[in-house]
Amino acid sequence: MFPIVRMRRLRENAAVRGMVRETHIRVDGLIAPLFVVEGLSRPEEIRSMPGQYRHSLKSLVRECKELQECGVKAVILFGIPAHKDPLGSQAHAPKGIVQQAMRAIRKQVPGMLVVGDVCLCEYTSHGHCGVIEGDRLLNDPTLDILARTAVSQAEAGAELIAPSDMMDGRVAAIRSALDDAGFTHIPIMSYAAKYASGFYGPFRDAAESAPAFGDRSSYQMDPANVRMALAEVDLDLQEGADIVMVKPALAYLDVIKAVKDTFTAPVAAYNVSGEYSMVKAAGANGWIDEKRVTLEMLTSITRAGADIILTYFAKDVARWLS
Ligand code: PBG
Repeated sequence: MFPIVRMRRLRENAAVRGMVRETHIRVDGLIAPLFVVEGLSRPEEIRSMPGQYRHSLKSLVRECKELQECGVKAVILFGIPAHKDPLGSQAHAPKGIVQQAMRAIRKQVPGMLVVGDVCLCEYTSHGHCGVIEGDRLLNDPTLDILARTAVSQAEAGAELIAPSDMMDGRVAAIRSALDDAGFTHIPIMSYAAKYASGFYGPFRDAAESAPAFGDRSSYQMDPANVRMALAEVDLDLQEGADIVMVKPALAYLDVIKAVKDTFTAPVAAYNVSGEYSMVKAAGANGWIDEKRVTLEMLTSITRAGADIILTYFAKDVARWLS
């Protein structure tokens, strides 16, 4: 009790504070999301995401080299095809934009882990994550397309497959297709608890993937639910997921914690586009200190239980921590 106990003693100087610090952001756990656009000859900065680009194949490889020099060991790729159709067929085209990007990175940036985001919304003309009939998204016919997409990415060099579509049964479908194609060694990181979130706005600008009608609430989760997130994670693990993800991160720290406390699998969290853009906008206005707030956010996501963080700040954070 006071005055014998004084909590401030352990805050007296930086060395002691460092000694008793409980949480450390791990650069090893960072994954940088990158966009690659078919037919682009030079990179375009994304207006709603300052400092992030829609890459050409060439600038994408350059960016991967830069990330590697900073210590970032993994990238997740989002491809934007020149032609979109109702079934998203470019998602699994052997020479699709994302497949080309994977091959280029594997060849030119050895040691960089290539993660493949498996979803159809960047590839479909209607912007939904699967097969549409009328105004309904059909679950089961979508599974086969997702599985083909995963296999085509593995063939192109993806070393970790990350389905982000939220169809029921997709992890099992992808696992069995990967296994049949000889990719038993490739792990799956499922976007297990992915919420229907307003924080994806800037991403949809970047990927031109906003749904042409309706929204994603018939497949992505209601932000109000946490028990349902545990059920989603449980099912994905039973279907063969190796890593489970919660997305977005900041408004869902309790979900990250609940998943971490309930299961033994590694937990990933996606610090999404809207979370990035808010910090960038406030930082640019001088309203907050961007570096300080970013490190505070990533520390919080780590503290909540994330082993892996997907973040557009990956390069900055790796630099700041080195
Ligand atoms: C594809 C996908 C999305 C994001 C990652 N994968 C968008 C969406 O569901 O609309 C969002 C990432 C971000 O906002 O940074 N389904």
